[in-house]
Amino acid sequence: MSDRRVKVLGTGSGIPAGRLTNLDLEKIVETSDEWITARTGIKERRIVAPHESAATLALQSARVALNRAAVLPSDLDVIIVATVTPEMPFPATACLLQDHLGATRAACFDLEAGCTGFVYALSVAEKYLRGGGGEKALIVGVETLSRIVDWQDRSTCVLFGDGAGAAVLGKTEEPGVLATYLGADGSGGSLLELPAGGSRIPSTAESVARRLHYIKMSGNEVFRFAVKIMEEASREVLSRTSFSVEEVDLFIPHQANIRIIHSAARRLGIAPERIFVNVHKYGNTSSASIPIALNEAWEENRIHAGDLVLLVGFGAGLTWGSALIRW
Ligand code: UT7
Repeated sequence: MSDRRVKVLGTGSGIPAGRLTNLDLEKIVETSDEWITARTGIKERRIVAPHESAATLALQSARVALNRAAVLPSDLDVIIVATVTPEMPFPATACLLQDHLGATRAACFDLEAGCTGFVYALSVAEKYLRGGGGEKALIVGVETLSRIVDWQDRSTCVLFGDGAGAAVLGKTEEPGVLATYLGADGSGGSLLELPAGGSRIPSTAESVARRLHYIKMSGNEVFRFAVKIMEEASREVLSRTSFSVEEVDLFIPHQANIRIIHSAARRLGIAPERIFVNVHKYGNTSSASIPIALNEAWEENRIHAGDLVLLVGFGAGLTWGSALIRW
C-alpha cells in the first residue's frame, strides 16, 4: 500500500426538482404530517420525474463533483456507483455513467450494500487507489427509491426519497481518509428486502400481482439494529486511529430517521451542533443519503480544511460502515 493517502477533491449532488410533502402523502395513504414528523423527522422528499433515472441523477452529481475537483472525466481511473436502484440489472449504471461522461480510461462497476453503499464505495475506492489502481476515482451514491416503494404501504412509502451524491477522490500527500470500517450480517437480510426480480423469484405476472417488486421492511427491528450499530461503527473507526469522539468536528450519519440519529448521538455523547441533519428535506435516500449530506455540509460551510469528519451508515444486508476523514 502506498504511503500517500486519498483525499476528497470535490463533491456534488443531483437532486430532483419534484417535491412530495407529508401533506401530499396524506392524500395517498392513511397517514398524517404529525405522525411522519414525530416518528421520523421527515417533512418532504424529492421524487424523480418520468424522464429521470439513476443514470441522469448520477450524471448530474458527478459533473458538479468533477468540476469542483478540477478533474477531467478522462483522468478517472475507476468509477463506482453504489445503488439498490440501478438503471437496470445490467449493464452497470457505472458503465452508463462512464459513457455519458466520456471517462474512457475508467474501470466501472456498481456496488450494492444497501444504505451503506456510499461508505463501502469510499472504502473500496480508497484501497483501490492506495493499492496501485491509479490516481483518481469517482464514487456516486444514487437512488430512485420512488420506483420501488409500495405506494399502498404507509409503513414504508413515507420514508424514502430520490437523489444522488458524488465525490471525486485523488491521491495526496495530505492526510485525507484516515480509516474506514465495514461490516455485514447476512442473517438479517430478510428484515429489509425487495423479494422479486432476481433469480429466486423472477419477474412474472404473479410476482407483480403479489407486489413482490416493492420494498418490504421490519421497521422496529431495523431501528434497534441501527441505533446500536451506528454507535459501534463510529467507535470502531475511531479506535483504528488515535482520535476520540470529542475530536470529531462533524458527524454525518445516514439520514433514515431523526430518532435513530439522536439516539446514536446520545450514546456517543455528541452534541447536536456537531451532527449534520437534512432528513427533513429528503427522507431516506439510501446510498445517496451520506454523499448528499456531505455535499450539503460542504456547501453550507459546515466543513473546513483540517476538520475531522466521521461518516457512518447502516442498511439492507444488513450492512454497516464508517469512515474518518481529515478534510
Ligand atoms: O436505511 C435503513 C432503512 N430503514 C430504517 O432506518 C427504518 C428504521 N425504522 C424506523 O425508522 C421506524 O421503525 C419506522 C419509522 C419505520 C416506524 O416507526 P415506529 O415508531 O417503529 O412505529 P411502528 O412501526 O411501531 O408503528 C406504530 C404504529 C402502528 O400502529 P398500531 O399497530 O400501533 O396501531 C402502525 O400501523 O404506527 C402505525 N403506522 C403509521 N401511522 C400513520 C405505521 N406507519 C404509519 C404511517 N402513518 N405512515
